Amino acid sequence: MKRIAIFASGNGSNAKAIIQYFQGNKNIRIETIVCNNPKAKVIEVARELNIPCRLITRQDLYIEDDILNFLKASHIDLIVLAGFLWLIPEKLLSAFPDKIINIHPALLPKFGGKNMYGNRVHESVLNAGEKETGITIHLLNEKYDEGKIKFQKTCAIDSSDSAEDISRKVQKLEHEWYPKIIEGILTS
Ligand code: GAR
Repeated sequence: MKRIAIFASGNGSNAKAIIQYFQGNKNIRIETIVCNNPKAKVIEVARELNIPCRLITRQDLYIEDDILNFLKASHIDLIVLAGFLWLIPEKLLSAFPDKIINIHPALLPKFGGKNMYGNRVHESVLNAGEKETGITIHLLNEKYDEGKIKFQKTCAIDSSDSAEDISRKVQKLEHEWYPKIIEGILTS
């Protein structure tokens, strides 16, 4: 059995797509969701879909070893970031080498970095006059959005598209592809 921990702190639409994709899978299961925002909608998603959700503080992640110990004790094979905006500390990176992945709502290396998330990314893409955007799934390293790219998928931007239109197109790609890429990583 391969075990996934999803780190999420937003709406949880990717977490939901991933959990639903692996429901009934005998070899891969979502062990836990780790969330840093007590108001995040992902907490409801976890409750609805019966996945344990662990709420953490900065102290838990950066100073104490509880999270690290919890992930090790849960035999986690892959940490999947799905809208988790805090930088992952070095101790987790070294405990899970090449076993932490992230999804970014644009075609890295452009439009990444600290504070580049959600609609800010799509606004920047629009302002840059890009003709296409998409998703990037990448391994994590110690810098925001700079780890090795595992997968990208593009979508066209129409001249009338708003940031919200782009967001809808990008999220559709995310929900379709993130679960499949996770499965590929865990079964290769
Ligand atoms: C996703 O679009 C993901 O690509 C983005 O946060 C969103 C979370 O949505 N991540 C980043 O921007 C990371 N820099 P969700 O909570 O509905 O899954």
